Order: sequence, then structure tokens, then C-alpha cells
Amino acid sequence: MNFPLPSPAWPPVARPRRLRKSPWIRSLVAQHHLHPSDLIWPLFIREGNGIREAVGSMPGVERLSIDILVEQAAEAHAFGLPAVAIFPVTPANLKNPEGLEALNPENLACRAIRALKQALPTLGIICDVALDPYTSHGQDGLVRNGQVENDATVEVLCKQAVTQAMAGCDVIAPSDMMDGRVGSIRKALDLAGFDQVAILSYSAKYASAFYGPFRDAVGSAANLGSGDKKTYQMDPANGDEALREVALDLAEGADMVMVKPGMPYLDIISRVKQAFSVPTFAYQVSGEYAMILAAAQNGWLDHDKAMLESLLAFKRAGADGILTYFAPKAARLLAGL
Ligand code: PBG
Repeated sequence: MNFPLPSPAWPPVARPRRLRKSPWIRSLVAQHHLHPSDLIWPLFIREGNGIREAVGSMPGVERLSIDILVEQAAEAHAFGLPAVAIFPVTPANLKNPEGLEALNPENLACRAIRALKQALPTLGIICDVALDPYTSHGQDGLVRNGQVENDATVEVLCKQAVTQAMAGCDVIAPSDMMDGRVGSIRKALDLAGFDQVAILSYSAKYASAFYGPFRDAVGSAANLGSGDKKTYQMDPANGDEALREVALDLAEGADMVMVKPGMPYLDIISRVKQAFSVPTFAYQVSGEYAMILAAAQNGWLDHDKAMLESLLAFKRAGADGILTYFAPKAARLLAGL
């Protein structure tokens, strides 16, 4: 029996393992790095005082009253986290079909923004613009004849954005996926004197099953019931459409764009960054967090290693920053604390 002859390249001339031999050389050739300054911490806020309430489907994540929010944000900021994104849990009695509480300058989100700004003037504050925390039907916009109506919703979103800017929000993050909302919000902010308030648009936001735990956390799951958001959030089947959405948002004045969810959409992050070279953010959403935590709690994954690897993957794909519920844990670990 004839064995094939060794190839002329044997023994190999190229030995990539030379650069993996020891920690010093691995760190020397590492192409991407994770820093606390890459991370944005999404936080759930609720009414009350001194309250930390566990979110069942997101172990380690809590709904915080404003006083505790300020404490926690201060600690995370000290580890080098530049910004937080806040999500209010609106009491059920304040929800209605029009989501009117979104426009109340004394609502939970606005009070949280003011408290954070006062205590931590150097911390960036990002606030979602969408009506789902406030509507009794759990949709992100106004429902007319059984449909989420685009243009009427955009009008309300503009008012919501200005309300948040008045409270001191630094970055408005429209997460609603209505057409034309970025341009309208930009105009409304400018007219109200907030030309320095930035827009981080959820440009490529998919209709994803991975938002489940978030909807539990903010209490919109029950309101939404068996409804879905497929008429405004993107179809997971589509890639090119994400580039179109990003192009529109940039043309309308978005300063930064976001792809959401994160890990199942790394291809989209990569394409967006390559096509537009603008600040591009990934949102590692609640379901991604829950998956890693569930596996870690079962002893099936190493929590810290899986966390850091998942975050580094976003940097490799081209993301400039990551919204992640791991932010404080990851920042602490990266800071060597
Ligand atoms: C609200 C909003 C959602 C998330 C961020 N903003 C949920 C949704 O669109 O239903 C999801 C975040 C997460 O799952 O972590 N428009």
C-alpha cells in the first residue's frame, strides 16, 4: 500500500503557534482589547426607596430605586464605565393606550436622569425613546385600527425625546423602529435648544425572541401578551436591509448607530462598521445575558470567561462599544478588582 509522500511544506515553515506560546506574546499580538470604556450599563429603575428587586429571568440583575441606582452607577463609573442606559419600570396604574406618562417631566425616567446628573456630572446618560414602558398594550407606538401607526407615533416620540433632554439626558436612543423618527427627533431637539444632545439610534433592531427577559424586567411582557413587533422591528432573515436602515438614520442625523441583538447578529455589526465607519454599538440583549447566566449557574460554562469572550467578540466584529448587563462585572474584572 502506498502512503502519500510528505508535502514539500513539511516540516512547516509557518508555525502560527509561535505567537501563541506564552502570555506575553499572546498579549503582544492581540489585535482587539476590551476596556471598561467600551461598556454601557443598561439599568432598570423602579419607584421607591432603598429597593433592589431581583429580575427572575436575569440572575444578578435588579430593578433599582433611584437612590440605589445612583449608588450603583457611582461605583460602576469609578471602575471606568463612561455611561449608563436607563429603563423605567412604570407602575401599571400609570400605563394607558397612548403611553402619556412618557411625556410627564416628573416621570420615573426624568427623575432618575436628574438624580444621576446631579450626583455624577461626568457620567453619560442614555435614555431609550419608545412608548413600550408606558403603554397598556406593550407596543412601542400608538395603536390605531389594530396597527402601530408610524407618523402619529413619531410625533409623540419627539415630545418624549425633548422631555428627556429637558431632564438632562445626554444621549437620546430611539428604540422604536418607526420610519423617519431620527430626523424628526433631531429637528425637535434642535428647535427646543438641545443641539448638543446626541442621538444613538437603534438602527438595525430585529424582531427578536432574545428580548424576552427584558420585557419581564420592565413589566411589558404581560401587556404585550401574544402580540409581536414584526411590523416595525426587522426580520431576522434580512441583512441588506440593516444597511439601508443605518443609511437612513445617518442621513437623518444619527450620531451613532446600534445593532440589536448582539451575538446572533455579529455579521450585521461587521457589515455596518465596514460600510459606514461611524460609531457603531452592539446591544448584548437580555436573552443573551440570560443564556450565559443559566449555563454558568448550571456549571456548564465558566461565567467570567464566557462573559469576556462574548464581549470581545463584539470588538472583533467592529463594534466601538457594547450595551451589556455584564458591564459592572466586566469592568471590575478588567480593572483587576
Ligand atoms: C424597548 C426596548 C426593548 C429592548 C430595549 N429597548 C424591548 C423591545 O423592543 O421589545 C430590549 C433589550 C433587551 O432585551 O435587553 N423598545
